[in-house]
Amino acid sequence: MHAQTLLSCGLLLFLVTVSNGWLFSHFGKKYQETDDVSLWPLPQKYQTTTTTFKLGASSFQIVHAKDSSAGPSCSLLQNAFRRYFNYIFDNVKKHRANRDVDQESDLQLTELQVQITSPDSECDGYPSLKTDESYRLSVDQPTAVLKASNVWGALRGLETFSQLVYEDNNGAVTINKTDVSDFPRFAYRGILLDTSRHFLPLKVILANLEAMAINKFNVFHWHIVDDHSFPFFSRTFPDLSQRGAYHPYTHVYTPADVKMVIEFARLRGIRVIAEFDTPGHTQSWGKGQANLLTPCYSGSTPSGTFGPVNPILNSTYDFMTSFFKEISEVFPDAYIHLGGDEVDFSCWKSNPDIQKFMVEQGFGQDYSKLESYYIQRLLDIVKATNKGYLVWQEVFDNGVKLKADTVVEVWMNNKVDQELQNVTKAGFSTILSAPWYLDYISYGQDWQKYYKLNADTQVHVWKENPDYKHEMAKITAAGFHTLLSTPWYLNRISYGQDWQGVYKADPQSFNGTAEQKKLVIGGEACLWGEYVDATNLTPRLWPRASAVAERLWSDESVKDVESAYTRLVKHRCRMLRRGIPAEPLFVGFCPYEYDGL
Ligand SMILES: *[C@@H]1O[C@H](CO)[C@@H](O)[C@H](O)[C@H]1NC(C)=O
Ligand SMILES: *[C@@H]1O[C@H](CO)[C@@H](O)[C@H](O)[C@H]1NC(C)=O
Ligand SMILES: *[C@@H]1O[C@H](CO)[C@@H](O)[C@H](O)[C@H]1NC(C)=O
Ligand SMILES: *[C@@H]1O[C@H](CO)[C@@H](O)[C@H](O)[C@H]1NC(C)=O
Repeated sequence: MHAQTLLSCGLLLFLVTVSNGWLFSHFGKKYQETDDVSLWPLPQKYQTTTTTFKLGASSFQIVHAKDSSAGPSCSLLQNAFRRYFNYIFDNVKKHRANRDVDQESDLQLTELQVQITSPDSECDGYPSLKTDESYRLSVDQPTAVLKASNVWGALRGLETFSQLVYEDNNGAVTINKTDVSDFPRFAYRGILLDTSRHFLPLKVILANLEAMAINKFNVFHWHIVDDHSFPFFSRTFPDLSQRGAYHPYTHVYTPADVKMVIEFARLRGIRVIAEFDTPGHTQSWGKGQANLLTPCYSGSTPSGTFGPVNPILNSTYDFMTSFFKEISEVFPDAYIHLGGDEVDFSCWKSNPDIQKFMVEQGFGQDYSKLESYYIQRLLDIVKATNKGYLVWQEVFDNGVKLKADTVVEVWMNNKVDQELQNVTKAGFSTILSAPWYLDYISYGQDWQKYYKLNADTQVHVWKENPDYKHEMAKITAAGFHTLLSTPWYLNRISYGQDWQGVYKADPQSFNGTAEQKKLVIGGEACLWGEYVDATNLTPRLWPRASAVAERLWSDESVKDVESAYTRLVKHRCRMLRRGIPAEPLFVGFCPYEYDGL
């Protein structure tokens, strides 16, 4: 071994020993004594006292209040009661760490009453963009009361109740007298998962829906198909997955699978918005549907490769009509995501039939007009199914005529503020995902701040970032000079705190009127699948996505990174305890470590 390496190993060992000792005594003591409670995302208003109650697994119950509009026939709530009861008491069984309530000396909490106040509990319905998720929770003797106008608010309140429960020094399940009054800041709080680049087994999707509920996310944006594979089984066009999936039955979501995802999500107050992205990102569609994609030409002969969906054939629109009719029936949500991003025009340009069509339509050489022509017809087809739609920002940028209730998703890092201004000025709702592409592990700080710098700023790229070329491209695209040292910081081996940048980004921090800002309905964290499958999905997403969760749920003023860190560390431990392998934020430990079981 090299002398210098030996030396640094020694130094490293020394540091680890010292810091471990310190951390152990410091956190160890702190953990025993005080706030075992960490609420995440932080409620809008809450007040806690030092009066404590004990909960006994054999005496405590979650029940329907007498005057609730939901009763035991509401399976959604029954299911949630069981889930949260298990979260509260599972450790009793798993770790035998708890003692039961001492009837004599402890103040006891025996009941949580759940009261749905509006006549329609929405028990058998689906959550929507208009859903009221507010709730009030009062933890007091002899019963705690959770009030919400419908089941969706009750679900959020049950999660908060479970987060208030902790074990005291003797391992007794405890809760403090507390009042909570809570509602989300944004109505759309999403996570995008990509099941095309890699197939994600159902189990992983369901586990992440559970993690989403724990973080009060309410939209699963299912980027279900793309160039690489078509795992969605269509009853109308079974060849799409038969030929377009990685494997025709092991790598496919059957109608029963899709139903299960939708129901599992519904039981947690989560909408499932499927994305069928066209006319680009469709290579896999072409395998099972002849004549759907544009044949590319090399000179005057077809080259044998295919481009985006062929926009000049009537058969294309017949196909889309049947296909989206099925989709609109399979997915109950009022919205479908129609994609529309990153259309490569080179194949269209090479094709003589398309050139002819361009002339006939008077489009000149402007292929974005052809794209708009296609999208326009597609939107009319989807509109006829009575669904609303989301689109990626290019569709708006290209001037396509959109329905008033269209949601435009801003994802490009370039000029985010201006884009948000433009979209909202035109009166459209928007969601932001640009700062939340969590598939990039930028081991550094908040790249958002690059966009707040003066135009003549030189950005020195130095953070730990395996994807630094991408970073350089982003910065130069935004008009800044740049210089690089990322690959040359040879001392750094540490992973970073990039959740902080994620946490600081705010969807409403652009220059716009109050009306414009109101049109920002939320945001979503995206985990694209190029380098992600079941092996690394959950730890890569959590707890980094939790930072987004708090940004989208809690009040705008909740942005202190240090206090967030303290709570987030505990929130992560809670996720471990609930079986979710969320990766560590930094050095430390959890009372119950994840053991892979
Ligand atoms: C709960 O009550 C205990 C005991 O009185 C107190 O030490 C603790 O700070 C309280 N926790 C919160 C979050 O108020
Ligand atoms: C496509 O449909 C339009 C109107 O529906 C019709 O006028 C046109 O002839 C059709 N084109 C072909 C090639 O069938
Ligand atoms: C916003 O609109 C203005 C005025 O139409 C235009 O000049 C600008 O390029 C647009 N910005 C973006 C990011 O699309
Ligand atoms: C914000 O927009 C207003 C109106 O478009 C403009 O007058 C103002 O200079 C802008 N402020 C900043 C900081 O860009």
